[in-house]
Amino acid sequence: MLYEKLRVYANGDVYPFHMPGHKRFGEADLPYGIDITEIDGFDNLHEPRGCLRELQETAADLFGSRYAFALVNGSTVGVLAAIRAMTKDGDRVLIARNSHMAVYHAAELCRLDVKYLMPELINGFGIFSSVSPASVERALSEDPEISLVVITSPTYEGIISNVKSIAAICHRYGARLFVDEAHGAHFPFSDRFPHSAITCGADASVVSLHKTLPAMTQTALLLTNSEELSKGLKRRLSVFETSSPSYVLLASIDRCLSFLKHSDEAFDEYTERLSAFYEAAGSLRHLSVPYDGIINNEAVFDFDFGKLNIFCNGCMSGKALMDALRADYHLELEMALGGRALAMTSVCDTDEGFDRLLRALKEIDSRCTESDHAEPCAACPLPQKRYAVHDALEQDGVMLDICQAEGKVSREYVRAYPPGVPLLVPGEVIDRDVLSQLSALEAAENVILTDSSAFPLISIIG
Ligand SMILES: Cc1ncc(COP(=O)(O)O)c(C=O)c1O
Repeated sequence: MLYEKLRVYANGDVYPFHMPGHKRFGEADLPYGIDITEIDGFDNLHEPRGCLRELQETAADLFGSRYAFALVNGSTVGVLAAIRAMTKDGDRVLIARNSHMAVYHAAELCRLDVKYLMPELINGFGIFSSVSPASVERALSEDPEISLVVITSPTYEGIISNVKSIAAICHRYGARLFVDEAHGAHFPFSDRFPHSAITCGADASVVSLHKTLPAMTQTALLLTNSEELSKGLKRRLSVFETSSPSYVLLASIDRCLSFLKHSDEAFDEYTERLSAFYEAAGSLRHLSVPYDGIINNEAVFDFDFGKLNIFCNGCMSGKALMDALRADYHLELEMALGGRALAMTSVCDTDEGFDRLLRALKEIDSRCTESDHAEPCAACPLPQKRYAVHDALEQDGVMLDICQAEGKVSREYVRAYPPGVPLLVPGEVIDRDVLSQLSALEAAENVILTDSSAFPLISIIG
């Protein structure tokens, strides 16, 4: 059934403005012929000495790091392995609160003592800004026990932090820096994109090849320049990553690396397409796809313009825009949240794809009238933390409707997915700000996920 459904999708005319970055270019049949795992003559991912070692050396070369680990369980396994390798149980860490769930899961597994950094919202856009070096410095100077800082750069929306300054500050205070760069695998391949985290001094970073490059879903790389850390990463990957790595995925990494070796022209064309798109989208009257407004904002260090953030500015919800693009124009976007939607682009997009999106947005824009739809959801202030995540999870819980839970302590993660950034973390107090944020997301038809139940039921500490 699933296979047939996928074939129908593959043979249809829906254009993908979503992951994976290869944009479904290529064969749609399942590659049984090359689907093996570690048999004689094909090396061993956990102890590479032959073709996989060569593949990882090529990756390190291309991505500008000393060591690169090929991953077949997504950036998720890279985040788990890196945070485990860079901490001992109970260590104090500083985590940007707009991190992906994988970071929270790592902190939970390692029983870390977490402090959060809450990036501000970008004025008028309702999306998280860069993590400011000053906020990292403040946190580290106030708490010398912090041994690891974890930030996400770029964010899902393409917002970049000043990794170079943040890395220098971390090192001055004796802390290490791990950057979740899952959405920035394409950065090294055009100077129209920001510098990559590993070349800016991060101790380790993870990049999802599958998100923005021509590689299959679940492929990623874990990067470091430190020999000592590379040993820890190798050991931890053998804990968290499958012992039967898919050679189909590894071959896809290999093909992606071969493409990257000769990709200058393709990236020039891609970035020109992006520039032309932003310029043409400037004529939209109600919807907007801002570039200058984001990049010139003082809370933004830099922006990956490959992420097309489409703002509805009160005309409709992001979900309604995403639905209209799918139903009427056969364009599938990556996600919608509150009053905005996100189209993810890659070097594999075509002129035809960009033209279709532009024409569709112009038509929808011409039908828009000012209306009373919700503006982009504002982020809440950081909820009050009553318990560490692992402590909260070990307590007894009771189920309650979220409407009756004000003032109670959550025993689970509550998030809209995508983007997978939790609004509530186990151990945090459910306050009025979170409740109104959740109602705004529900009003914009976003799906709210919890771990143990069907929202609006939520597990609280009983
Ligand atoms: C910021 C961020 N980090 C990590 C991940 C996990 O990456 P993967 O899907 O490659 O496991 C995601 C997934 O969307 C993400 O958005």
